[in-house]
Amino acid sequence: MTQPVPLIAGNWKMNGLAAAMDEARAVAAGLGATPARVAICPPATLVERLARALAGGAVLVGGQDCHPKASGAFTGDVAAEMLADAGASLVIVGHSERRAGYGETDAVVADKARAALRAGLEPIVCVGETLAEREGGRALAVVSEQARGSLPAKLAGRDFCVAYEPVWAIGTGLTPTTPQIEEVHTAIRAVLVEMFGETGRRAPILYGGSVKPANAAEILHAAEVGGALVGGASLKAEDFLGIIRGV
Ligand code: PGA
Repeated sequence: MTQPVPLIAGNWKMNGLAAAMDEARAVAAGLGATPARVAICPPATLVERLARALAGGAVLVGGQDCHPKASGAFTGDVAAEMLADAGASLVIVGHSERRAGYGETDAVVADKARAALRAGLEPIVCVGETLAEREGGRALAVVSEQARGSLPAKLAGRDFCVAYEPVWAIGTGLTPTTPQIEEVHTAIRAVLVEMFGETGRRAPILYGGSVKPANAAEILHAAEVGGALVGGASLKAEDFLGIIRGV
């Protein structure tokens, strides 16, 4: 069975002015010979500048969200085609901050994943349970249902990733135990194989939520973990490189 190439993606969220480009350049300069693919998803305002600054190097640039439509009267939104035009090659869809803050349903997330494919971007589709759902013993059911609803059939044969990000682990310093991560990733893998066959066996399943240099190696070597989606610790090149070294 071919092992998926691990992906370490940094999600800068709503952080980053022009000066932050230096951190991205430092990541590119410090990468060395890593077996991982590495991506930075800056705010939309920096996608083009970052793509230009990193052109020709190993660090990919991604968007943090996209609108389902290619163009139109959607004030403030960014189309997947615009991200691709600006030099992005990936896009995060369905991040829990978008699901919670903007009411994005699984159906909307699936539309966004379709938009990413239409524009030639690789979608990183996020799923994850809340603390109440985990404490209620429903983590596996919630995450499996989100995956089924958020992954469009069109992903078959295409490159995509799923990111498991427990909502309670994002930005909190809390992480699930390694067995808990493996249990959820194994459940997601089963859904992927059921939905997409061979494509589903290959797609990396990233873990996200308080990944730091200190816990990266253990998390990244857990069963069915195919990389990481990193928020806070991706803002500093030294921390992000420390995580990449954990692959
Ligand atoms: P964090 O965020 O690494 O700051 O916990 C992860 C994410 O939201 O993708």
